[in-house]
Amino acid sequence: MYEWVKALHVISVIAWMAGMMYLPRLFVYHAESAVGSDKSETFKVMERRLYRGIITPAMIATWIFGLWLAFGFGIVDFSMGWMWVKAAMVIALSGVHGWLGGMLRAFREDRNTRSHKFYRSINEIPFVIAIIIVIMVIVKPF
Ligand code: HEM
Repeated sequence: MYEWVKALHVISVIAWMAGMMYLPRLFVYHAESAVGSDKSETFKVMERRLYRGIITPAMIATWIFGLWLAFGFGIVDFSMGWMWVKAAMVIALSGVHGWLGGMLRAFREDRNTRSHKFYRSINEIPFVIAIIIVIMVIVKPF
């Protein structure tokens, strides 16, 4: 059962990370398109479907299976530091998730003021956080 929950956890993580890395990319091209244009309206639909249909359900599933792993089997040694670094990074990632949601709303209401350069610069944030998390949970360095 533990291995099944871990597999479902990692599958949810993959979907969450794929969406978190794709959405800022959509924002890059959306910021380059004219407000009210067909292109801008199409991006709104793509962003909304990605955020509501994939990223948010995947985040919820990642949390459910992750907490199940953490508290359901008595496996995790909470005296070790890796789990706390991972917990902090996961909370940060969930914060980035909400932040992207705010940007999605700004685009939806045609009140985005940020440039495509800004969205290019934030594109790697979820990936950098994911690298730290995966090293912590697999290597368990401390
Ligand atoms: C959302 C809250 C999360 C919680 C509560 C959580 C908790 C856990 C726990 C308790 C384990 C089992 C560790 C073990 O077997 O020693 C685990 C495994 C794992 N987690 Fe998470 N996790 C969360 C989010 C994430 C995220 C965001 C990522 C990647 C970006 C991630 C990547 C992994 C991986 C790759 C494994 C498998 C490690 C292995 O095979 O040993 N987790 N998680």
